[in-house]
Amino acid sequence: MKMTVIGAGYVGLTSAAVYAQLGHTVYLVRRNEQKLQELKEGRIDFFEPGLEELVRQGMESGKLIPTLEYHEPVRSSDVVMICVGTPPMADGSADLSQVFEVAESLAPLLHGYTVVVNKSTVPVGTGERVEQIITSLLSPGSTIDVASCPEFLREGTALEDLRAPDRIVIGTDSIRARAVLLELHRALPGKRVVTDRRSAELIKYSSNAFLATKISFINEIANLCDEVGANIDDVAYGMGLDPRIGSAFLKAGIGYGGSCFPKDTQALHSIALQYDYEFKLLKAVIEVNQAQRRQFIRKIKKTLGEVRGKTIGVLGLAFKPSTDDIRESASIDIVRWLRDQGARIMAYDPQAEQKALAALPGLQVCPSASETFTNVDAVLLLTEWPEFRTLPWGMLKERMNQPIILDGRNVLDPQQMRQMGYTYYSVGRP
Ligand code: UGA
Repeated sequence: MKMTVIGAGYVGLTSAAVYAQLGHTVYLVRRNEQKLQELKEGRIDFFEPGLEELVRQGMESGKLIPTLEYHEPVRSSDVVMICVGTPPMADGSADLSQVFEVAESLAPLLHGYTVVVNKSTVPVGTGERVEQIITSLLSPGSTIDVASCPEFLREGTALEDLRAPDRIVIGTDSIRARAVLLELHRALPGKRVVTDRRSAELIKYSSNAFLATKISFINEIANLCDEVGANIDDVAYGMGLDPRIGSAFLKAGIGYGGSCFPKDTQALHSIALQYDYEFKLLKAVIEVNQAQRRQFIRKIKKTLGEVRGKTIGVLGLAFKPSTDDIRESASIDIVRWLRDQGARIMAYDPQAEQKALAALPGLQVCPSASETFTNVDAVLLLTEWPEFRTLPWGMLKERMNQPIILDGRNVLDPQQMRQMGYTYYSVGRP
C-alpha cells in the first residue's frame, strides 16, 4: 500500500521505518529542511536501538521516502497517518494544535478515497474534530474516513514492539476503513481490536494510566516495606506470580518519567474533569509519582546530612535505559535539586549526556561510569542501564571518599554490596 506519515518524532519515524520494512511505500514528511537533510544522510536526532540501520535500509530499498513536500504523496496515498506531538498545556490537557494544523493542511490535497489515521495520543473525541476539519476543506469528489490506531511502543524497544505488537487497535465505524487498516497490518502478529473511534482513543490513555497506576502502587508498597522492614523485591515477586496481577511494571524505584506516562496521566485526568468526572485514583497516582522523587531526596538527606559542599556521583540521567530521552526524568529532577542545594555532581549516562547538558548547563559529565566514583561522598544509581550491574564495584569503592551507594532503581544486591563494605540504601529493601 501507499501511505504518508506526517511527523518524524519517535512514533512517526519508527512506525514509518517498520511499515516500509513490511513492504509498503511510505512517504515520511519532515517539515524542517535541515532535519530532512540529516535524515536523508542517515542521521537521527534521538537514540533508538536499531533505528538508524532500519531507516537506512528503508531508504536504500526505495520504500521509505523522506520528503519535505507532501502534496503529491498525500494525493496518492491510501492511508495518511498523523503522528505529531500532543504536548501538555499548563492545565495538564493535551495541546492538539499540531494535529489540527495537519488536518487543515492535508484536507485540500486528499484525492479519491483516503483513510486518515490518528496515531498521536489524543483525547476522546479528537477523531470527530479531525473529521469535521478535513470534511469542511475536502475537494469535491474526494472522500475520507478518520480512524484511530493508537501506538503502544516503548522507547528503547520501539522496533521490537512495532514488529511484534500484543494488539493492533483499529478504531473506526467504517467497514471500508477497517478493511484498509486490516490490510495495512496484515503482515504483523498480535490480536486485532476492532472498535469505534472513541474507544480506541480511550484504550491508549487507559493503558498508560493503568501501567502508571501499577508503578505508583508498588512504590507505595515499597515505602511501606521501608517502614515495616519487609523486602519489596519479594513482595512484588510474590504478587506478580498471580496471573491476575502479573509481574510487569511492579519494579519499585524513584517513579516513572518519560514523554508519555506523566503527560498522559495528566491528560486523562483533565479529560475526565471536562466531563465533570473526578478521576480520584489517577490523581493519587500522579501525586504518588511526584512524591516518590521527594522520598528519595529525603533518603539522600538522611544519609548524607547537609548536601552543600558534598560531591556526588550520579549513574544514569535518562528517564529509563536504552534511550537518550530525559523528558520528565526522575534523575534530572534529583540532580537539579542537589545542585540547587549546593552539591557538586559528577554524572555519567551512556546516551543522555548531550540532552542532560542542555537541560542542566554546566553539569560535570564523566567519560565513564567508573569516573563518577572518584573522590565522591556518595554515588546515586538513578537509571537502570544494564552495564551498571556489572561495574567492578569492589574496586570502585576505593576511589570514593566514603563508600555510600543510594540505588534508586533497586538494581544491585543489598547483601553483596554490604559484603563489599558499602553502606547501601535502595527503595523498600532492608
Ligand atoms: C510507555 C508505555 O510502556 C508504552 O506502551 C506506550 O506506547 C508509551 O509509553 C507511549 O505512550 O508512547 P515508555 O514511556 O517508552 O512507554 O517507557 P516505559 O518502559 O513504559 O517506562 C516508563 C517509566 O516507568 C520509566 O521511567 C521507567 O523507569 C518507569 N517504570 C517502568 C518503573 O518505574 N517501574 C516499572 O516497573 C516499569
